[in-house]
Amino acid sequence: MVKNHIIYIIGFMGSGKSTAGKKLASLLDWSFIDLDKKIEEHTGKTIPEIFSQKGEDYFRAIESKLLKNIYSGASTVISTGGGTPCYSDNMDSMIETGLTIYLKLTPNQLRSRLSGSKGERPLIKNLNHEELLSFIEDKLAHREKWYNRSDITVEGIDLDINQLLSLVKSKLDI
Ligand code: S3P
Repeated sequence: MVKNHIIYIIGFMGSGKSTAGKKLASLLDWSFIDLDKKIEEHTGKTIPEIFSQKGEDYFRAIESKLLKNIYSGASTVISTGGGTPCYSDNMDSMIETGLTIYLKLTPNQLRSRLSGSKGERPLIKNLNHEELLSFIEDKLAHREKWYNRSDITVEGIDLDINQLLSLVKSKLDI
């Protein structure tokens, strides 16, 4: 089925959603939107500030609202936050309105990619090396229920963007 021309990139924190999304958008000559950046623009605060000043529930409410209002009619690749599919009816909404791509990495791969950028991510900023791995394992096991509903799943490490592009084109019939 051909849906709207929206591609949602989904996956855990640190899975490379923004990088892959930007590359895919550029190859398709589509617009690119980073949902976390939209939330920061909309609130005038950084993600850590939103979490510390307003709390996670507030963040999730804005995240869901912006996700559903982001589509301007132009063909767009949207990179979501790691938790986006797992709250409210966000995953249903993405499945209904576009093509969903899950960038899948193992907990160890995620830990090595996240250890240098914990400060930007409120959910993991206080975890040490060991705690980070068990947090990722537990959270990923929980979140995969949503991630696994994606139309396409690709290995996020050494992602072959041209292979992904062909897959996307065949699914969208473009
Ligand atoms: C979150 C992931 C973050 C950001 C927020 C919460 C999560 O996005 O939305 O810190 O719940 O996994 P990235 O996946 O881009 O780090």
